Amino acid sequence: MKSTFPLFPDSASTLSGHVDALFIVWSLVSLFFTILIAGLIVVLMSRYRRRHPEEVGADERAALWLEVLWSAVPLAIMLAMFAWGTKVFFELYRPPADAVEYTAIGKQWMWKVQHPEGQSEINALHIPVGQPVKIKLASEDVIHSFYIPAFRVKQDAVPGRYTSLWFNPTKPGVYHLFCAEYCGTEHSRMIGSVIVMEPRDYETWMAGGTPGKSMVASGSDLFTSLACATCHRPSPGVTQRGPSLEGVFGSQVKLADGRAVTADDNYVRESILNPLAKVVAGYDPVMPTFQGQVSEEQLTQLIAYVRSLGPTGAAPAGGTGGTPAAGTPAASGVTNPSSAEKDATSPLNTAGQTQGAAQKPPQK
Ligand code: CUA
Repeated sequence: MKSTFPLFPDSASTLSGHVDALFIVWSLVSLFFTILIAGLIVVLMSRYRRRHPEEVGADERAALWLEVLWSAVPLAIMLAMFAWGTKVFFELYRPPADAVEYTAIGKQWMWKVQHPEGQSEINALHIPVGQPVKIKLASEDVIHSFYIPAFRVKQDAVPGRYTSLWFNPTKPGVYHLFCAEYCGTEHSRMIGSVIVMEPRDYETWMAGGTPGKSMVASGSDLFTSLACATCHRPSPGVTQRGPSLEGVFGSQVKLADGRAVTADDNYVRESILNPLAKVVAGYDPVMPTFQGQVSEEQLTQLIAYVRSLGPTGAAPAGGTGGTPAAGTPAASGVTNPSSAEKDATSPLNTAGQTQGAAQKPPQK
């Protein structure tokens, strides 16, 4: 963790340079026009001041070209900056197809991060250098904001829906992770570290942690234990009460009321928590809500599982794989939020995995 307080944060992602260039040029353009206009005001005030009480101004219509000029030139500059800003914005908010998806859940007052392979961390995120990373954000309580200055990315984590951001780290190192939305008394301590490692070090780190189960495997287990399979898995000779989920994710779903929606993260989430909001055409509105029965973390696991059923089940690169690994060890407490989380609110615990965090004494 850096102890210095530099004027500019490290520039450590593929896009941080683009953001900086836009920021610096925009600042210089603003500075130039501020000085130009303030200077002109002073000069013109003095030069064209009224010299006698009865003095009358000259006819200024001859200077029409000047008016056109000072409207058209700033307009052109504004539009150019707008186009440039839009380009950077799209770069920042469109993750590349090969981005590996991690999940970060904000809760008062910590970040809980889950790797696609199942590792989970509190207030820390270990990633390999040079690999695009997409962070799917959720919140368990209020609005938080996931902010990594060195990568020039910031995105709110909003209760009740998913948001995301992405970046591609270019330099190994340890970078600040902040919550950038005032979320309660300990908001300022809701901080952590992003640890960017050489791929080989990352492998070693991954091998050292308790692996836990992959997101997809955990989701598959939940799918069974919550009895989702009773209605959503076709079995011969039985009238199916719910649609099969094979191949649903990413497709267009026809609803009972005639609408069609894309089955994305937010759709699956809503269908679990509020099943009657969008009933699939051809099925009765009989599904019970799972509100209060599944945590934010379990929701993301269920969604990972549904996504793995395709067709865009394109498991995120990084090898979540489409099918749950058979021989994975039992969850080893990784997904048990209650004990580990309460004890892990200390901001000092920036690099510990959940397992390590659980051994720390309670902070309060
Ligand atoms: Cu969470 Cu501020």
